[in-house]
Amino acid sequence: MTEALLRTRSITHDFTALRANDDISLDVSPGEIVGLIGPNGAGKSTFFNIIAGALQPTSGRVLFEGSDITALAPAERCKIGIARTFQVVRSFDSMDVAENVIVGSLLRERSSREARRAACDVLEFVELGSRAGTRAGDLTSPEKRRLELARALATKPKLLLLDEVMAGLTPTEAQRGIELVKRIRSLGITIIMVEHVMEIVMPLVDRAVVLDLGRLIASGAPAEVTNDPKVIAAYLGEPKRA
Ligand SMILES: Nc1ncnc2c1ncn2[C@@H]1O[C@H](COP(=O)(O)OP(=O)(O)O)[C@@H](O)[C@H]1O
Ligand SMILES: [Mg+2]
Repeated sequence: MTEALLRTRSITHDFTALRANDDISLDVSPGEIVGLIGPNGAGKSTFFNIIAGALQPTSGRVLFEGSDITALAPAERCKIGIARTFQVVRSFDSMDVAENVIVGSLLRERSSREARRAACDVLEFVELGSRAGTRAGDLTSPEKRRLELARALATKPKLLLLDEVMAGLTPTEAQRGIELVKRIRSLGITIIMVEHVMEIVMPLVDRAVVLDLGRLIASGAPAEVTNDPKVIAAYLGEPKRA
């Protein structure tokens, strides 16, 4: 078996009065697309924050390509190939679209000219090429989501964490998003995606992993997982907590 790209070992995270992640151990193989699902408040974004380094786990370890990265800062994780999008879109609204992406591509390119060229290539890839000179603040919300993806892709990640990138999209826009995720996969990038709409995430992923109340309760082929009584019960119980 190929070595896992990402390994988490017994990740636990406590907010003041709440265990948001409870003993989560997950291995993700190179090239895999994992759908991370679970009811609201299950701990999905917290888990992403821990993998990306925005949060330090209360206990447990994160390993990437066999090295323990639990103590690494987010910027250092970005350098070794971990990129993420945020559930709530973050863009530099007063800068133009290309400049927003250059923020990502500068990580890999030596000159600002090369960084701009790389940014433009990524913008074409996410079909935002015609918006390169637009103020980011003037983009529509689906365009902003693609901009976030472009900025993440510009860092040339090995692992991409997508936190509800399809949320709030119309069916047509979501279809476009699905095609984009497929193109990202064909670049060989490993993806963990959190998505609320099962019809979107299930056909796209190699494996579904389910969190409920901070715990990993199921992991397997999408069809298997959706029929798992534990998973059905978790969703029927929704909303459990805010
Ligand atoms: N910064 C925080 N402080 C306190 N509680 C938080 C914080 N962030 C998230 N939580 C709580 O942790 C739980 C898991 O949240 P989250 O990881 O955002 O879930 P999900 O992304 O699965 O909806 C929720 O109950 C949420 O209210
Ligand atoms: Mg979330």
